[in-house]
Amino acid sequence: MTIHDLDTPAIVVDLDIMERNLRQMSDYAAAHRLRLRPHTKTHKIPALGRRQIALGAAGLSVAKPGEAEVMMAAEPAEILVAYPTIGARKLERLAKLAHGTRISIAIDSLECAHQISAAAQAEGVTLGVLVEFDAGLHRVGVRPGAELQGLVQAVAQLPGIDWEGISFYPGHIKSLDETGLAAIRAAGALLEETVSDLKSHGLIPRIVSGGSTPTWAHSHTLTAMNEIRPGTYIFNDKNSVGIGSCAWSDCAASILTTVVSTAVSSQAIIDGGSKTFSSDRLVWSSEVSFGEVVGYPTAVFHKMMEEHGFLDITRTGHTFHLGDRVRIIPNHICVAVNLHERLYGVRGEQVEEIWEVAGRGKLQ
Ligand SMILES: Cc1ncc(COP(=O)(O)O)c(C=O)c1O
Repeated sequence: MTIHDLDTPAIVVDLDIMERNLRQMSDYAAAHRLRLRPHTKTHKIPALGRRQIALGAAGLSVAKPGEAEVMMAAEPAEILVAYPTIGARKLERLAKLAHGTRISIAIDSLECAHQISAAAQAEGVTLGVLVEFDAGLHRVGVRPGAELQGLVQAVAQLPGIDWEGISFYPGHIKSLDETGLAAIRAAGALLEETVSDLKSHGLIPRIVSGGSTPTWAHSHTLTAMNEIRPGTYIFNDKNSVGIGSCAWSDCAASILTTVVSTAVSSQAIIDGGSKTFSSDRLVWSSEVSFGEVVGYPTAVFHKMMEEHGFLDITRTGHTFHLGDRVRIIPNHICVAVNLHERLYGVRGEQVEEIWEVAGRGKLQ
């Protein structure tokens, strides 16, 4: 089968680029002695988790128990649920998985730790815990300093729990200009202070977990960190390029669409809208764009309805015809993948692999 045989819309993955992205991150992590637990929320496909493990990942990260259940098929030595998991039903499922692999959970409350402890004891397993602190995103995580110490001290004493260390997510860093680099330096300084503070209280974290795709190449400058959890890097997207963490040539995934209408002048309508791309806007620019039109940089993907994508083609100097195939690099590939049943891995024009997105919709 070739790419021309694929019906649209379809997410197409350039295998050469994806493999280069995977190798690059693994080599980087190995060179700087950083554990790598890639976040699989980007691809949600066990076969790709396996590839990450084969290239040296210590384990895999997920957000939800449903994703953890799916990723067991990749046979990871460890799964980190990098999300505050609240509720007996979810924790029971994670405790069951702990019979098959090591399960750790990133938490930011004593209440959650008590729930984990109860679930672990009921199932007769030990669950790892990372205590999450807020490094500047202000999403989850306790304040570094006394609050973090207090929580770590309390968590470390609970039965059924193995306190492994601390975690944070530098999702507030969305540029690599002077402002972004200053934020990376600040995160590094905060981390160093936080870890040495814990150590001075006799609390030695085995794992200090952070990292993201935007900041990946600077991870080694956060010297107190020993684990990274990048996710998007496997495919990259328009946001990654805008942030400056990769080039267009590093974008492995694009969405193949078909022009279905040119009836209204100055525009081409493609057969994918918000149900194909997601409505995520760019994180690094106020420009209204839902993706980069490959080969036509002056086409503007400025509007979407559920099944319609609006391309303003005024400045392209190109005439689009019904049935034309148009490839688009989405703003945020992780959310787009979750909308699709399968991904198509291509080398050149040949479709080499078809993966079911086993983790799509696993929100619980
Ligand atoms: C807790 C956590 N860790 C890691 C990641 C991976 O980040 P990125 O996709 O920027 O590589 C995310 C992304 O949302 C996250 O929320």
